[in-house]
Amino acid sequence: MNASIIFSPVSFGKLVLKNRLVRSATWEGMATEEGGLITDTLLGLVEGLAKGGCGLIITSHAYVCRDGQASRRQMGAWGEVCRPGLARLASTAHAHSTPIALQINHGGLLSDASPPDLPRLGPSAVNSIEALGATGVVGGGTELGKAEIASLCRAFATAAGMAKDAGFDAVQMHCAHSYLLSQFLCPHVNRRTDEYGGSIANRARFPLEALRAVRGAVGEDYPLLVKINCSDFIPDGITLEDAVEVCSMMDEAGVDGIEISGGSRFGPRIPYPAGKTPMGDNEGYYRDAAELYKTRVGTPLILVGGFRSPAGVSGVLERGLADAVSFSRPFIREPDFPARWQAGELTALACVSCNICAKKARIHGNIHCAAGQPK
Ligand SMILES: Cc1cc2nc3c(=O)[nH]c(=O)nc-3n(C[C@H](O)[C@H](O)[C@H](O)COP(=O)(O)O)c2cc1C
Repeated sequence: MNASIIFSPVSFGKLVLKNRLVRSATWEGMATEEGGLITDTLLGLVEGLAKGGCGLIITSHAYVCRDGQASRRQMGAWGEVCRPGLARLASTAHAHSTPIALQINHGGLLSDASPPDLPRLGPSAVNSIEALGATGVVGGGTELGKAEIASLCRAFATAAGMAKDAGFDAVQMHCAHSYLLSQFLCPHVNRRTDEYGGSIANRARFPLEALRAVRGAVGEDYPLLVKINCSDFIPDGITLEDAVEVCSMMDEAGVDGIEISGGSRFGPRIPYPAGKTPMGDNEGYYRDAAELYKTRVGTPLILVGGFRSPAGVSGVLERGLADAVSFSRPFIREPDFPARWQAGELTALACVSCNICAKKARIHGNIHCAAGQPK
């Protein structure tokens, strides 16, 4: 194993990372209940990550409109009131010389935590119970009109502009995990017959329009990242072929980095599957997707999901399957593992992917590792 590759620098456009270890976006349930404003608890979590030696922190998903809030106590980037807290978050990371990207999102049909009187917007008027099965929120979805699509592009752009002004080093658009932009890519919920539905070029139209709007707001040189599913793992979800095609389109549209994920709340394979992950040569859920991506797309790739050991991470980097590797659950348990690895303590991560962190946080907020505790 060659651990030095993990601690070599890498660039995503103008964003330079000191190492290849990225904290993937993780909702923490630590923002204020009303408005998603930044709290001292959240600043403390980011400080721990920043001190812990990772190359880049990607924040939790932050909602760009009040009708797009997906989770309780989720961060907001929906208005001016959010700006001072966001600026404090960015400077907290910078105090420890760690770059930070703001992930921007709209929950679409999965806006479970937005005010109940607001519509659940989506590509088609799919009832979320129909989309999700028994686990879904109650209520029908509202099909977006073209003027509303244009207005949502502006909302993403405004949030991105605010992130830049607040001092973030990059923004990441959330096009994965069955939220609004990913819903457009997914035939299961995108049943439109206009130019936003049908072929993959049509289904990608809104995500690409949003991307161009964001690019227009932040300027040509500002680092712009995207997170996208390689597969929804449902029979009528986005396929790997389609996903790679969308990545090529985003490459052409000038994105600086793409993070490949997978899984959907519209099916049994969620984005953070529970249970022991393979280690070493077979580590990482989406290695096959990365392999295809690398033959077709030039944009540098961040690969997320199931990475737990220095050998697994360095193997993927050495084989050129990814330019950086990102982690969510391991950072909840060990925010300082990059510093530990860099100091030569190259042991596997302690996270056992039990998902008790997520289950408890959904009830109480304030995510933390609760491995070994009752579910
Ligand atoms: C509690 C929890 C919250 C998450 N929140 C987000 C999020 O806000 N945005 C996002 O893109 N992914 C989110 N994810 C998915 C992770 O970023 C990651 O893609 C997934 O957990 C697989 O990586 P891992 O095996 O390293 O945990 C979340 C995962 C967990 C467990």
